[in-house]
Amino acid sequence: MKSTFPIERLQSIRTPFYYYDTTLLRNTLETINQEAGRYENFCVHYAVKANANPEILRIIREKGLGADCVSGGEVKAALDAGFPANKVVYAGVGKSDWEIELGLENGIFCFNVESVPELEVINELAALRGKVAHVAFRINPNVGAHTHANITTGLAENKFGIAMEDMNRVIDMARDMENVKFVGLHFHIGSQILDMGDFVALCNRVNELQEHLANRGIIVEHINVGGGLGIDYQHPDRQAVPDFAAYFATYHKHLRLQPGQTLHFELGRSIVGQCGSLITRVLYVKQGAHKQFAIVDAGMTDLIRPALYQAYHKIENITSEEPSETYDVVGPICESSDVFGKAIDLPRCHRGDLLALRSAGAYGEIMASGYNCRTLPKGYLF
Ligand code: LLP
Repeated sequence: MKSTFPIERLQSIRTPFYYYDTTLLRNTLETINQEAGRYENFCVHYAVKANANPEILRIIREKGLGADCVSGGEVKAALDAGFPANKVVYAGVGKSDWEIELGLENGIFCFNVESVPELEVINELAALRGKVAHVAFRINPNVGAHTHANITTGLAENKFGIAMEDMNRVIDMARDMENVKFVGLHFHIGSQILDMGDFVALCNRVNELQEHLANRGIIVEHINVGGGLGIDYQHPDRQAVPDFAAYFATYHKHLRLQPGQTLHFELGRSIVGQCGSLITRVLYVKQGAHKQFAIVDAGMTDLIRPALYQAYHKIENITSEEPSETYDVVGPICESSDVFGKAIDLPRCHRGDLLALRSAGAYGEIMASGYNCRTLPKGYLF
């Protein structure tokens, strides 16, 4: 298929860089608003960790989503991009004092608390300021997800959240504290989840916990089920906007909300994943003993997912229409894992060709590093 990239404009930008298709991003956001909007009380937050490019954040904020943050830096990025503080949630197993203070000063919607000592510190810091912090407890639901082991988060063995057995005790503690208000329960089972059955399993667990709490006369204001909806890395153009209708319908069908409760989501990858590509230039085509290499100017410092998770990103040669040949596509970093793809069929490659590594809008630019004293890649919106 002929690529739809604006090649001439891309040619003039120094590679490697991230290309973002804002039309696709906006379509994705409109679909989310339409599909979540079918259900009263559904609130969608964008997981800033997926991509904190300020212009991307601004577009997402303009469409009315809230923000889900995991560090003071992300809270700041969200506020700078204009997200209203009362739509900012802040999770994370290790919140520093200054990060908690930042949330308190700005009056964020909620801290998602992951341990007893953290709860105590939030209570103390809020008391010093004469504030009451809204807190939700992140409960580890011990629900597995059919995804890569490095990105499951909801199993008992993971470091995240408070064990279910401790939930009652922690809630009682919070109710005795003067400077925290217990408002919700938070869950997140993992990322790149395509099997709706995994979300159904989470719903069932939340229902059980809610029933248990209702028997104790406790009804929280909100439930937050995290994010995790996956995207199609094999076929980035087949369903570029993920199936949000099925995703929200699954929660609507299986999660029993108590009267007056709101249901919050924290979606990252499914919002920004398909709108971004890493654009890189072929430096050399090298004939090895048994295969040929396309050596490109982007490396694992620009997109670490293949090296870190053996993740697949579709590679396209967007400037050649010649017959295909087979290449290992590799970067310039001094690490054997600096490989974007092995035995990939691409239109014959020449020095100077542009390749696109697709589906790189989420956890791409934001995970870039300066290893080998490399410059961080820039992002350009089209
Ligand atoms: N909420 C919480 C509490 C999370 O930990 C995460 C992701 C999200 C929401 C957003 O999940 P999403 O909708 O994007 O799946 N770097 C990895 C992904 C790590 C995800 C961490 N948590 C990757 O490149 O695949």
